[in-house]
Amino acid sequence: MASFSSISKTLRGCLVKRNSNFMPTLSRCMSNVPESSVYGGPQPQNPNQRVTLTNLRQKYKKNESITMVTAYDYPSAVHLDTAGIDICLVGDSASMVVHGHDTTLPITMDEMLVHCRAVARGAKRPLLVGDLPFGTYESSAQQAVDTAVRVLKEGGMDAIKLEGGAPSRITAAKAIVEAGIAVMGHVGLTPQAISVLGGFRPQGRNVDSAVKVVETAMALQEVGCFSVVLECVPAPVAAAATSALKIPTIGIGAGPFCSGQVLVYHDLLGMLQHPHHAKVTPKFCKQYSHVGDIINKALLEYKEEVTNGSFPSLAHSPYKICAKEIDAFTHQLQKSGLGDAASAAADAAQKFVATKSQDE
Ligand code: KIV
Repeated sequence: MASFSSISKTLRGCLVKRNSNFMPTLSRCMSNVPESSVYGGPQPQNPNQRVTLTNLRQKYKKNESITMVTAYDYPSAVHLDTAGIDICLVGDSASMVVHGHDTTLPITMDEMLVHCRAVARGAKRPLLVGDLPFGTYESSAQQAVDTAVRVLKEGGMDAIKLEGGAPSRITAAKAIVEAGIAVMGHVGLTPQAISVLGGFRPQGRNVDSAVKVVETAMALQEVGCFSVVLECVPAPVAAAATSALKIPTIGIGAGPFCSGQVLVYHDLLGMLQHPHHAKVTPKFCKQYSHVGDIINKALLEYKEEVTNGSFPSLAHSPYKICAKEIDAFTHQLQKSGLGDAASAAADAAQKFVATKSQDE
């Protein structure tokens, strides 16, 4: 049996090793979690199979398409992991598809970190990339490095993504790479810049804009980005960028000539089926399912069954009390002046056939 001193030594070891003063990491070392196997997450099939930049480079060299999908919480992360998706992006699109904002601008760093930590608990195999949210990296390279460090240290991510290619962003990307953090760039439609872009508008549709997409992607490569997202640009522009770069391009609404593809989880699953959302679902998005319809159907069925009393039936009332205990219980209730409660308990016991033993 472990002695108190050996347990406290282990705990101190966790504290020292993690060198962190924030509690969520520490709580994972503690033993006060109920039955950790319930939400501890499926173990990776093979812990050595964590996707790394080296794996991505190998795929890229072999011309194998890289798969990336966004995730924002534990269940979506587990789904991505199970499906064998290469990169899991905790995108600031959470602002829209999870928090219901009209743009990606309002989401805060603290909100992003909550999403990152939940995803890190669920996705053990994919490379984890966390978006730097709007307002957390534009002021200076130092601010960008500080934010990127938080995404790794507090969010449990492996890499960060930042949007745009203005000189200050290139400088920020360079500083983050020099700080030892892998950076994914993002050019074309950069949703955090809708204020200057004049809305969610495709980019690269004239010569100047198309050249800018390619040049920006190359500048991001130059400062050490390991990959670049190309969002909402015509396929020939994405093809040119992919050809000009020696790092993988990940397309979204950029046609098939990229090194990989990314879609937003809710969009690809068809999660938001309300006509309003259907109207604003990006044109480039293929819905591989209509999960929203399945959710709606299940909720309506649940509502109906609760309303008509058919749920929960005996099958979903697992906790038994034996006849002897029921008798004693009703007796006790009566003694306490709770006659109606005693009758209710006795009636329920008759309907829900009391078992002989509590263990049955
Ligand atoms: O936030 C996000 O989901 C993204 C993808 C669209 C690439 O940046």
